[in-house]
This record gives sequence, C-alpha cells and structure tokens, in this order.
Amino acid sequence: MSDNLAVLPGSGGRVRLVEMPRPAPLSDRDVLVRMLYAPINPADLLAIDGRYAFDLGSAVPLGAEGVGRVEEVGAAVSDLRPGDRVLPLTRGNWASYRVLDREQLIAVPAGIPDEQAAMLRINPPTARLLLDNAGAGDGAAIVQNAAGSTVAAWVRALAARRAIHVVDVVRNADAALPHAVVDGPALAASVSDAAAGRAVRAALDCVAGEATGRLAECVSAGGRIVVFGHLSGQPVAVRSQLLTGGGLSISGFSLRPAETALGADGVNRMFAELFDLFLEAPPSLATRALMPLREADRAVVAAREGGKGRILLDLTA
Ligand SMILES: NC(=O)c1ccc[n+]([C@@H]2O[C@H](COP(=O)([O-])OP(=O)(O)OC[C@H]3O[C@@H](n4cnc5c(N)ncnc54)[C@H](OP(=O)(O)O)[C@@H]3O)[C@@H](O)[C@H]2O)c1
Repeated sequence: MSDNLAVLPGSGGRVRLVEMPRPAPLSDRDVLVRMLYAPINPADLLAIDGRYAFDLGSAVPLGAEGVGRVEEVGAAVSDLRPGDRVLPLTRGNWASYRVLDREQLIAVPAGIPDEQAAMLRINPPTARLLLDNAGAGDGAAIVQNAAGSTVAAWVRALAARRAIHVVDVVRNADAALPHAVVDGPALAASVSDAAAGRAVRAALDCVAGEATGRLAECVSAGGRIVVFGHLSGQPVAVRSQLLTGGGLSISGFSLRPAETALGADGVNRMFAELFDLFLEAPPSLATRALMPLREADRAVVAAREGGKGRILLDLTA
C-alpha cells in the first residue's frame, strides 16, 4: 500500500481518493515535497465540475494551491534544504507528496503560519496582477465586486500601497465591510458617491453576467473592465454604447498565463513583495474548518455549502 494519496475529480461533482506510487526525485533539479495543507478554492470547485477555464484532465490531482515541506533535493539544488517550506506554482496539490522542478517552487519565509502559507499562492498574485492590469495610477479609483472575497481583500491591501481608492461592491450588505455598496440597479450612483469625485478608471469583475454591465456603468470614459471570474455562471452583458461611445475596453485575466508573461524572475520578485506585505499587515484570511485529505469528498461538499472562511485540507491526515 502506498503512503501517497491524491484527490482526483469524480463524477456528479464529487471527488475520489486514489493511491499513487510515491514519487522519487528524478533529476538533479527535482525536489521531493511532503504536502501539508491546501484550501478548497472556488476554482477547485469549477475544476471538479469540469467548468474551469482550461481543460485540466481527470487523471491529474486537484488543488490549485497548497504548502509543503521539502524532504529531499536533487544534487543541483543548492538553495533549498530538507525542512524548508515551499509553495508549488503548479496545480495538483491535493496529494501527500509531489516532485517538482526547483523552478516550480517558491520558498516561504519564516513567520508565516503553515495554514496561511497554504493560501498565498493564488489570490495574492492574482490581486497584484489584476491591479497592474487595471492600469489605474495613484489617486485614481477602481471598483470591484464580490468585495467579501479573498482576492478583494488582497486588492484592498495592495491598492492602499499605491494610493488607489477602491470602491467595494457586495451582493448583500456585509457587516464586515460596512463601507461597501450593495449591487443593484442604482449601482453607478452609489459608486460615484463612494469615489468622492475621483475618476473610476477600472472595474475588477469576478461575477460576470448582468453584474459586469452594472460595473461598466460605473467606469469613466476610456476605462477598463477586467473579468477574472464567473461566479454568476452567466455570459457578460454590457451596454454596447459604453464600448463604442465611451471607449470602455473589456479584457479577461487568468493568473498562470499572466505569470508566464512576467517570467520567472518577475514571479519571484512578486512573491517577495507579497510575503513582505503579509508579514507587515496580513489581510484577514479566515479558515472555517480543517479536514483530513482522506475526507476530501466530505470537505468539498462542505465547501459548496458556502460560508465565511476557507475549508483547508490537512494533507498529512
Ligand atoms: N482568473 C484567475 O486567475 C483567478 C484567480 C483567483 C481567483 N479567481 C476568481 O476570483 C473570484 C474570487 O475568488 P476568491 O477565492 O477570492 O473567493 P472567496 O474568498 O471564496 O469569496 C467568494 C466571494 O464571492 C461572492 N460571490 C459568490 N457568488 C457570487 C455571485 N453569484 N454574485 C456575487 N458575488 C458572489 C461571495 O459573496 P458572499 O459573501 O455574498 O457569499 C464571496 O464574497 C472567484 O471567481 C475565483 O474563481 C480568478
């Protein structure tokens, strides 16, 4: 019996646990990682349901992100040692062990708890690169929906460093975000009030459908909408005159292609900046429950029920 378990997509929105041979380091640049924790993110649910933006295949373990501890390194790896903590850059993290090329790993600095480190690979760089894509300079305003999300929390933290004013939009009033405006037919007026005279240069949209159209009405002429999720499951609907007369542009964003464009050095610098920010002023990243890898199917059911905070998988149990 192998001690390497992995979680694969099942049928009907469920997942299945499989035993896989324990991977052995293959080349000089390889690193054997004992995986520790991984969250269940919205993108993982899309992957399980076959609705993810890319075809991921059904034979590859799930898990967009996670944290692990180095067990063994190849002869040519000099900057990682057994015991160091790492974030794999690639998918496939719901597993006991992984073997990855050194270039596919980011070393985690001391001072970040394991459970928090497990949630730092996806949403912080997404927020950082979304802000870059928004093209809004110091003093400008941007608007974002699903403002209670983890990505949105990181956008607020990073925007504060750039003196960008963020107008938060939620679907329902949220006591944790008392400043946020509630989405609805009068959104443009509420956002304009909240922007307090600043031009709203861009909108970050992860809801899509009619919500994109309402955000589009909030953005000033020549501004941008960056669509990076589709929580509503609906196609984007935007009044076309905003594009023709208003010069509004709409683009899509996906983290991994954006990182490829940034290059390995750029990605390493970005994570160094994000770790610094986390150590200085960690955005609140609540966890709702810690569940063993062996109970991944039950954990996925719980994640679908929604609620504040992430469900984390303990990949050692
Ligand atoms: N493109 C990329 O590369 C990329 C990378 C990372 C994340 N994402 C996307 O970013 C989004 C946020 O991810 P996350 O991990 O930060 O989310 P999260 O922390 O799990 O939070 C989800 C948020 O979405 C809100 N929400 C759910 N369904 C909604 C709907 N139909 N309309 C409006 N709001 C809705 C929830 O609001 P309530 O509080 O009201 O329930 C909650 O605040 C997801 O769509 C995810 O797929 C994309």
